[in-house]
Amino acid sequence: MGSHSSDDFTAKWAQHDLGEVVVSSKEVHDRVLELGLEITRDYADSPPLLVCVLKGAINFMADLMRAIELPVEVDFMAVSSYGAATKTSGVVRIVKDLDVDLTQRDVLIVEDVVDSGLTLNYLRQYLGARDPHSLEVCALLLKEGEQRVEQSLKYVGFTIPPDFVVGYGLDVNERYRNLDAIYIFTGQA
Ligand code: IMP
Ligand code: MG
Repeated sequence: MGSHSSDDFTAKWAQHDLGEVVVSSKEVHDRVLELGLEITRDYADSPPLLVCVLKGAINFMADLMRAIELPVEVDFMAVSSYGAATKTSGVVRIVKDLDVDLTQRDVLIVEDVVDSGLTLNYLRQYLGARDPHSLEVCALLLKEGEQRVEQSLKYVGFTIPPDFVVGYGLDVNERYRNLDAIYIFTGQA
C-alpha cells in the first residue's frame, strides 16, 4: 500500500505485538494462485462448492475463489470453539450454518489453519453426514506436529512451526485480520 509493501512494513498500530513474518504477503499471493490452478485442474469436470469457515478464512477465501477458473459456488459457516484465546478446546459450536444443500455436491472446505485438527474433525463429520459426493479440505496453514486428530488434507498452503500466528484473516481477540502477511504473535492474548 502506498510506497510500502507489507513485506517490509508493518502497520504502526500492530508493530508492538508482532514478531517475525512467517509467510509474507508475496508468498501468500503466489501460493494462492498455485492452489487455484490445482483446484481448477482437479475439479474441471465438477466445479466445487467452496465452504469458507468464518472468520479466519475470509481473506484466503476471497483470494482463492478468484484464482479458480471454474463456476464455483460459495457458502459460509461460522464456528466457535470454547476455550482460551490461543488454544482450541475441541468443543465446537456452530454459530452460522450453511444455506445450501450438500447432497451430491463436491464440497471443498476452505480453512485458515489446522492446529490440533479438532475443529476440522468436527466439521468433516458434521458436513459429511449431509451426503456430499465428495468432501475435501483446502487449508492455508498446517501447524507442524500439532495434530491430535489424523487429517488428510487435499490442499495445504504452508506448513508452519507451532507458534501462534496472526494476519491474513487470523486473529487474536478479533484483531490483526486485516494484515496482508502472517506474523508470529508476541503480545498478550
Ligand atoms: P484446531 O481445532 O486446534 O485445529 O484450531 C483451529 C482453529 O483455531 C482455527 O480455525 C483458528 O480459528 C484457530 N487457530 C489455531 N491456531 C491459530 C493461530 O495460530 N492463529 C490464529 N488462530 C488460530
Ligand atoms: Mg479464530
